[in-house]
Amino acid sequence: MSTEQLDSGLVLDAVRVTEIAAIAASTLVGRGDEKAADQAAVDAMRTALNSLAIDGEIVIGEGERDEAPMLYIGEKVGRGGAAIDIALDPLEGTTLTAKAMANALAVMAWAPKGTLLNAPDTYMDKIACGPGYPAGVIDLDRSPADNVRALAAAKGVPPEDITVCVLDRPRHAEIIASIRSVGARVNLITDGDVAGVMHTADPATGIDLYVGQGGAPEGVLACAALKCVGGQFQGRLVFRNADEKERARRVGITDFDKKYDLHEMVRADAIFAATGVTKGALLDGIRREGGHVVTHSLVMSSSTGTVREVRMRRPA
Ligand code: FBP
Repeated sequence: MSTEQLDSGLVLDAVRVTEIAAIAASTLVGRGDEKAADQAAVDAMRTALNSLAIDGEIVIGEGERDEAPMLYIGEKVGRGGAAIDIALDPLEGTTLTAKAMANALAVMAWAPKGTLLNAPDTYMDKIACGPGYPAGVIDLDRSPADNVRALAAAKGVPPEDITVCVLDRPRHAEIIASIRSVGARVNLITDGDVAGVMHTADPATGIDLYVGQGGAPEGVLACAALKCVGGQFQGRLVFRNADEKERARRVGITDFDKKYDLHEMVRADAIFAATGVTKGALLDGIRREGGHVVTHSLVMSSSTGTVREVRMRRPA
């Protein structure tokens, strides 16, 4: 079997997994129960993964073994086959789902064994932009205002024409002020920074830049997506206490101040799949119509450069 055939088999497998998780979560949209929605997605994703001919190890999952009984970091999934690292978030945006708000996704990334950053469940400072800019146009160590100016210059527009996506959190007050100080627009999102980063790579969203602190695991997932479509990302782990540093040590992190770039977080070709749970800028949510359930997904492979938009319909 050629690499391309193998890759296309895995691509289709990957999107089936996110479809199944998204469908399961969708039954809980708007019901105010984040935990139940997450659990439904986790159960469905785990069952789907275990039916596949892969030798998978969860490196980004639901948490450490003692806190997550399913899809925990280190759990092996699959019936045997290609040896892969798996990063997943069966439901990225539990609150978005519980409140029936936009942009909840089921997401997963696959890469050859040992090539995804084993990120601890801590925060990460992140900055990202889409493809087409010179390397180094953004830098986590510069102020948000300077990054806006640099990106605007590279795009050939004034800073006023730049839109930056930021999670709406009190901790981001300074970042938001810095962005607005140069006249750029801030697009605040309540949750879901995997989608937030991905928006930078899709001109239709109008988002040029993503800045702010979100989950480190979500950072790895976002990097897998950008690896497939191009773009730049830098991230640095944020530790609030000794326990978080210990979590990092347990997954093999020794340099706590390291600034990671996209290709250090995803060190080989990756496959990324996402299925919309609720309608968002990139994907429609799950719909039920005429006795059928309809899904909308994106599945991409960095080795072949393919980006597939997949609509699936099956009896509900
Ligand atoms: P959940 O899917 O667990 O609800 O997380 C959503 C999310 O918004 C992520 O996209 C983001 O990285 C993180 O939470 C931000 O964390 P916090 O809500 O603590 O600011």
